[in-house]
Amino acid sequence: MVQSSTQTTDQSRTSWSFNRRTQYTNFEAHLVSGALGAEISGVDISKPLSEEVVADLRQALLDHLVIFFRDQKLEPAQQIAFSRQFGELDEHDFVKGMEGYPELIRLVREADEEGMNFGGVWHSDVTHMEQPALGSVLYAVDVPPFGGDTLFANQYLAYETLSPGMKKMLDGLTAVHSAEGPFGPQGRSKSNWKNMQVETSDKALIEVEHPVVRTHPETGRKGLFVNGTFTLRFKGWTGAESEPLLKFLFSHASQEAFTCRFRWQRGSVAFWDNRSVMHFALNDYNGYRREMLRSTIAGDRPY
Ligand code: SIN
Repeated sequence: MVQSSTQTTDQSRTSWSFNRRTQYTNFEAHLVSGALGAEISGVDISKPLSEEVVADLRQALLDHLVIFFRDQKLEPAQQIAFSRQFGELDEHDFVKGMEGYPELIRLVREADEEGMNFGGVWHSDVTHMEQPALGSVLYAVDVPPFGGDTLFANQYLAYETLSPGMKKMLDGLTAVHSAEGPFGPQGRSKSNWKNMQVETSDKALIEVEHPVVRTHPETGRKGLFVNGTFTLRFKGWTGAESEPLLKFLFSHASQEAFTCRFRWQRGSVAFWDNRSVMHFALNDYNGYRREMLRSTIAGDRPY
């Protein structure tokens, strides 16, 4: 049987059986898709949260991989305070933080901008770092009347649905990552993201290595950990040798059945686990403005 171009695997290889809880002590979670994502109701994240609520939210993040909140009103200091309850915050290496809030970056596309948008390739955040982010918190300040949705893809499912032979090969592979594509001297930021505070630099050429299959430090589950923004090649392979397999993995890992799609409103928040999801910011709102604020929680070394 010939498979469709996007559905590259036999999905019966995974049980899809991870715990998608909907009831927590302090809130409810409403599932967004079969693969991942839940909207949390009943939590005002602008206020300091009790340890119990933070622990429950952390559990919800592990259960659903990305959690969403609606109708929040966050000042920059409140977004930082919310994010800090889950760990130390990183400053971005190439996007300058907001005045007075270096841990918060402004992702803005003005109505008259064209070209590629920030985040418009399937990726995990900042995998050019030795210790890529645990997760990111994205707050919608201004949204277009349509479009500008963000897609998320479950990388546990991406790994679990591969054949035993492919898993065995990938389990032993290391990938080389850098920030050259977006932030190198010839990077995409040269001709895009004009209204953001982005710096291109030779620092973006620094290469780091991560396992292609990463074990989540909290759940113990294995997930694919390569992405279209930062992964250059496999260690010990040439770029040309790596390209076909990377292309297959990127397409496999972002197939529809592994995704959910989030429709933003002003005041919406997405908090994703960068260790188990990739995301993609859709560029389908030419002529309209979109502004988001992102804080990034520091992670650990993938293994
Ligand atoms: C990002 O990649 O962090 C941005 C996602 C978005 O703007 O939807």
